[in-house]
Amino acid sequence: MVILGIETSCDETSASLVHASGGFEKPHFRILSNIVSSQVKLHAKYGGVVPQLAAREHVKNLPIVLREAANVIRAWKQNIDLISVTVGPGLIPSLLVGVHFAKSLAYTLQRPLLGVNHLEGHIYSNWLQGTREALRNRLPRFPAICLIVSGGHTELLYMQGYSDYRRLGETRDDAAGEAFDKVARILGLGFPGGPAIERMASRGNAQAFPLPRPMLQTKSYDFSFSGLKTAVLYLWQSLSPKERGGRQADLAASFQEAVVETLVAKTSRAARDFGVRAIMVSGGVSANQRLRNSFKGKIPVLFPPKALTTDNAAMIAMAGYFRYLAGERVSWEKLEANANLAISR
Ligand code: KG4
Ligand code: ZN
Repeated sequence: MVILGIETSCDETSASLVHASGGFEKPHFRILSNIVSSQVKLHAKYGGVVPQLAAREHVKNLPIVLREAANVIRAWKQNIDLISVTVGPGLIPSLLVGVHFAKSLAYTLQRPLLGVNHLEGHIYSNWLQGTREALRNRLPRFPAICLIVSGGHTELLYMQGYSDYRRLGETRDDAAGEAFDKVARILGLGFPGGPAIERMASRGNAQAFPLPRPMLQTKSYDFSFSGLKTAVLYLWQSLSPKERGGRQADLAASFQEAVVETLVAKTSRAARDFGVRAIMVSGGVSANQRLRNSFKGKIPVLFPPKALTTDNAAMIAMAGYFRYLAGERVSWEKLEANANLAISR
């Protein structure tokens, strides 16, 4: 079947057509199109996403990305089988734009509509793209541990099967990506901070500053990054303007190392504790190469293709497929956005 995915939960407007087949046992996905319009430049001057501005941009950009995404197949209006849209979690002004757009489409085209959880989309991005051979290695291995690390979320989940999640831990303050963004701002590296820190860190010494590894010694699976950010701030303030130039890369590398070590240690411990068959890492921070290189051990660790680590509608189409297979149906009149939608029981 062909699924139209629509994503507007934060500052990326995206529409995608995905061909899905194989059912629960051997799911196979082919991305026909995946158009993402990023507002990152617009929000950069404010140092973060401004919800009202983001919603306005979604209204403007949705018809454009839809047209571009849909035109890859002939007579798309007749040939899509399902519309899948992000209903949460996210910024409510942004979500509302996508949800209402999808509802209107479902009504006018008379197609089934499903609302999906943005985080579930991130998880399935692990199975997107690649040759059949590569995908075979990625295929459903349950139970799994999922680490979702993005600008808004840091979640550690136990995934028993499709749509069956138990939350083990989350961040108690800043999300991992948010910490990257804030530390980048402290160091004067711009927004979004993740890629900027990673670039700067590649020239620095990760052992130069002994930064804390927050909550690493506790039994809890929760994370906390705000203290680490403050530690960076104090260190930075203690350096003279002359010293700063020479230490910026060391501080970026030391910070990145502290975040990566904490994420890897907790995720690996959860994987051992629960005896899972796979670890699936997703979300914007999963693009980080240092994070990708730092998992050791026998349990297979999956990452999405780098281009699909940040928000996109292809992953939303996939999540819709599994919900559809499970028999979920909602009438377009009833679908609602929910900024705080939870993923777990
Ligand atoms: O998943 P995403 O696009 O949006 C949310 O759902 O939040 O993630 C964006 C986040 C930003 O905080 C950004 O700084 C971070 O992902 N990020 C990275 C890297 N690329 C993006 N963090 C660390 N290293 C990267 N290479
Ligand atoms: Zn996201």
